[in-house]
Order: sequence, then C-alpha cells, then structure tokens
Amino acid sequence: METKYTSNRRRIRANAHIRELVANVYLDHRDFIQPLFVDESVAVRTPMTSLNGIGADTIESLLEQIASDLEQGISKFLLFPVPLSKSNHDFDFSFVVKALQAIKEKFGSQVWIAADTCLCAYTQHGHCGLLNEAQTAVLNHESVLVLADYALALAKAGADCIAPSDMMDGRIAAIRKILDANGFDQVAILSYSAKFSSQFYGPFRDACKSSPGNNPLLKDRKTYQFSAFNAQDGLLSTIRDIEEGADMVMVKPALPYLDIIQTIKQETKFPLVAYHVSGEYQALELLAEKQLVDRSKAHLEVWTSLKRAGADAIISYAARNAKTWIEGIAY
Ligand code: PBG
Repeated sequence: METKYTSNRRRIRANAHIRELVANVYLDHRDFIQPLFVDESVAVRTPMTSLNGIGADTIESLLEQIASDLEQGISKFLLFPVPLSKSNHDFDFSFVVKALQAIKEKFGSQVWIAADTCLCAYTQHGHCGLLNEAQTAVLNHESVLVLADYALALAKAGADCIAPSDMMDGRIAAIRKILDANGFDQVAILSYSAKFSSQFYGPFRDACKSSPGNNPLLKDRKTYQFSAFNAQDGLLSTIRDIEEGADMVMVKPALPYLDIIQTIKQETKFPLVAYHVSGEYQALELLAEKQLVDRSKAHLEVWTSLKRAGADAIISYAARNAKTWIEGIAY
C-alpha cells in the first residue's frame, strides 16, 4: 500500500485553521444543566466546602442565583432540596414545593426545572428509599409508592421534569402513571437510568447530608445502584426505563462510564444526559487549585469527551461557565 500521503497525520494539526476545519465534536451551552441546592437550614447563601464555587441557597438566594445564571445563558436546572427535618416515613415535602413555586412564580417558562426525586435527603438513615423494620434492606414497592406521591407534589408545584435518582425498580412506570392520571402528561421524566454505585458522589452527600454510612447494617447503596463490574446492567436497565416511559435517560458518573454512554446511545438512540458528578467535578477543581491543570480547559476537555461518546446533554456543576468557556475555545 502507498503510504506517502496517508502517513502524514500532522498536516491536519498544523494550525488552528485546519484544526477547526477537521473538528467534528462541538460543545454548546444550550446542552447544559446546572445543579442547584436549596437548603432549609441556611439563613443566607452558604458556600460549600466540598464543591468549589457552589452554594447552599435559601429560597431567596436561589432566585438570585437563577437570575444570574440566566444572564450566563443557562436556563435548565436540576434542583436538589436539603430539608431541615429528617424522618423515616411520612416525609414533609413542603420546603421543595415552596422553592419550586417561588421559582415558577418569578421565572415562569424562562426556566426549565428538573426536580431530583429521591428520599435520601429526607431519611434519617440516608438511604434512597424506605427500609424494612430490621433496617437491613431497602423496600422496593413501598418506596416506589412514596416516590410517586413525591413526584406528583413536585409536578403540582411546577417542576417541568421529574428526575428520579433513587434506583428502585418500577418507579418510572409508577411516576408516569400518577402524573398522567392527574393531568401532568406534559411533565417529562429524566430517568437516572444508569446510575452506578460510586466513590464520586462524596462531595454531593456532604452537601445534601445524605450519606448512608452511619447505618452499620446497610452501609452503602450497592443493593440498588449498579456495579462497575457489570458491563450490561447500564444498557438493560436503561431499556427497561425507556419501556416504562422515560423521556430522557442518564449515565452517572460520566468519565468512568464513557463506554456505557457510548453503548446506550448506539443501542437506543434515546436522548441521553451525562452527569459529571460532584467528585469528578471537585477532582478537577482541586487539580486547578494546585495549578496542575487549567480549570476551564480541563472541564472543556471532559465535556468534549462526553459529547464524543454520545451524550446529548451534560449536567455539570460548572454549567454556568459553559457559554464563556466555550466561546473561548482555541482549537
Ligand atoms: C441521590 C443523588 C445522589 C446524587 C444525585 N442524586 C447521591 C447518591 O446517590 O448517593 C449524586 C450527584 C453528585 O455526586 O453530583 N440519590
């Protein structure tokens, strides 16, 4: 074979003009979702020690944060409530309901709010569902019933999208059913359809005070979140959630599961969101703090890899910088 022409691969890298021409992966700030934390226990916006640049907001400061994010071109959000009181049944969802109502009253359809739907910030034991009496197992059916009621309350309060992150079986079908039965057939479901049991949720659990670690009989989420050692569960569970009525699906964390992103996109063609989670975000932030990476370029490089693998949208704690950073990309 004649290799004279093809062996020179450096011509297409020689300058920014040709690098721009041969580029075929693009980032767009319109694909980004910004997570928000609204915390009932704070009196003013309180910076999080575990997540650089991210704050725990009051309802009032949350509105200011959203106004400023809108100015940065970010209009899609993932809302996490941190309620003051925790219990193990009969949960009080009124704080997040109040927050959603305030957001919708102020911003209406200017913003799109996905409400994270899970019980881990509400339970004393920190698990994402109800436990049996012996505190040794998460009850599936009973948890799904509570999650469906919660989803309905979130929809009534104005959520545009329900995003269940609890990982119980059958929750997508139950949520779709209760939403439709109550006139919320236009409220979308973003399923955390491939959520792995991961080290990289550490800073988030700190922020939401939702770690299950204090419960000696059930110390982790391995009985409901996926195992990194199973290469098929991500795809099969995602297909199951699509069949149950999910409108969008998700892979979480993002970087350690790029293969799962690629497989799900190729196999399902479904709208796919990659969640670059708290520990992944903070790892880059700490590297940047030590001046071992350039902050914006490091985030951009990761985001590009998620797009390349097949993600349509990206959840990132740095989403509010996306527009500025993307405009500054040097190819
Ligand atoms: C709640 C939930 C978690 C995250 C999103 N929703 C934590 C967990 O499952 O322990 C993690 C988000 C992040 O780390 O950025 N179930």
